[in-house]
Amino acid sequence: MPKSPAPPRRPKRPEIPPALTVAGIDIDTVGPDSLQEGDSDLVPAWDPDYILEPDVMEPLVLAANLDVPIMLVGPMGAGKTTSIEALAALIGQPCLRITFNGDVRAADLVGSKEVFQTDQGPYTEWQDGLIPRALDRQWWVILDEYDACPSKITFVLQSLLEPGHPLTLTRGNKIMRAPSGSRFRIFATSNTVGGGEETGLFTGTVQINKSHLSRFAGVRVGYMAREREEIVLQGKFPQANPAMIKKVVSVAVEVRNAFGIGSCSVPIALRQTILWVRAAERLIQGCSFQPITAYQRGLAFAVGSLMDPRDRQFVQGVAQRVFGGPGW
Ligand SMILES: Nc1ncnc2c1ncn2[C@@H]1O[C@H](COP(=O)(O)OP(=O)(O)OP(=O)(O)O)[C@@H](O)[C@H]1O
Ligand SMILES: [Mg+2]
Repeated sequence: MPKSPAPPRRPKRPEIPPALTVAGIDIDTVGPDSLQEGDSDLVPAWDPDYILEPDVMEPLVLAANLDVPIMLVGPMGAGKTTSIEALAALIGQPCLRITFNGDVRAADLVGSKEVFQTDQGPYTEWQDGLIPRALDRQWWVILDEYDACPSKITFVLQSLLEPGHPLTLTRGNKIMRAPSGSRFRIFATSNTVGGGEETGLFTGTVQINKSHLSRFAGVRVGYMAREREEIVLQGKFPQANPAMIKKVVSVAVEVRNAFGIGSCSVPIALRQTILWVRAAERLIQGCSFQPITAYQRGLAFAVGSLMDPRDRQFVQGVAQRVFGGPGW
């Protein structure tokens, strides 16, 4: 029987030394010996193609070192969530991501009394939620899409943002806090600075109380510079023609600039340029499409089809000028 080709090998994760310097600042790492059972599943996957942006990494490492909560704010798909995960992956730190999707309840985060049935009858017992578990196990917590977190939950979390991260578990009748030297940290990501939503891009976001917000340090995460985005795309798709990658990024940059001055109502996110190249390369490799057609179709697939008609027309015009060919 013919042998099936070996699967492509992932580059091996480098050994994690006791400390690293990231963006010019030293940070302690987490050796496997300091992890409890199951914690290593929460260490984010190592991505050798991830570019650590110094402007983002410096405040992140500073916040981790000083043990202050930090909020990453910026447009969609720019790298807020993954930059925290990339840092955690680099240092071997378990990381719990809680996404505020509307279904998260305070009880999920803090804990609640649960009723158990036994032969002797029902009894109730306190069950810790996600945050007490994270405090206990020294995980990082990412409060993702924090501007969708309802105020009744932000108030529950308020004390956790203070030194020592005290958390009162009223119904469990105890106060928890992170022991001194704990690796527990809090990060939040948000598309708006908690001012609620005015652009229509981030419906479902809410106002974040200013006093609550003042407990966070902050960092703005914008789209990366053109050359760096080209490096990211080429790293992820080594077979892609560099000239095509340059064109993709040119279209994205032009649309982002147009968004900045109001001539287009949405930007093209890094997440979307990645999908665009991925789709186009699949059309070239799997279906023998001509490169220009593949890239035009890839743009429609990853970005254009979900845009409103005015934006779609604008993006089509930019792509036609940059790529040439018949358009999508
Ligand atoms: N510095 C980087 N190097 C390589 N890839 C990156 C980098 N930053 C972001 N990406 C990639 O871009 C995509 C979007 O990143 P991410 O999900 O972190 O964005 P986000 O800002 O959290 O978006 P959202 O606001 O929609 O939650 C991911 O696929 C991620 O891997
Ligand atoms: Mg995110």
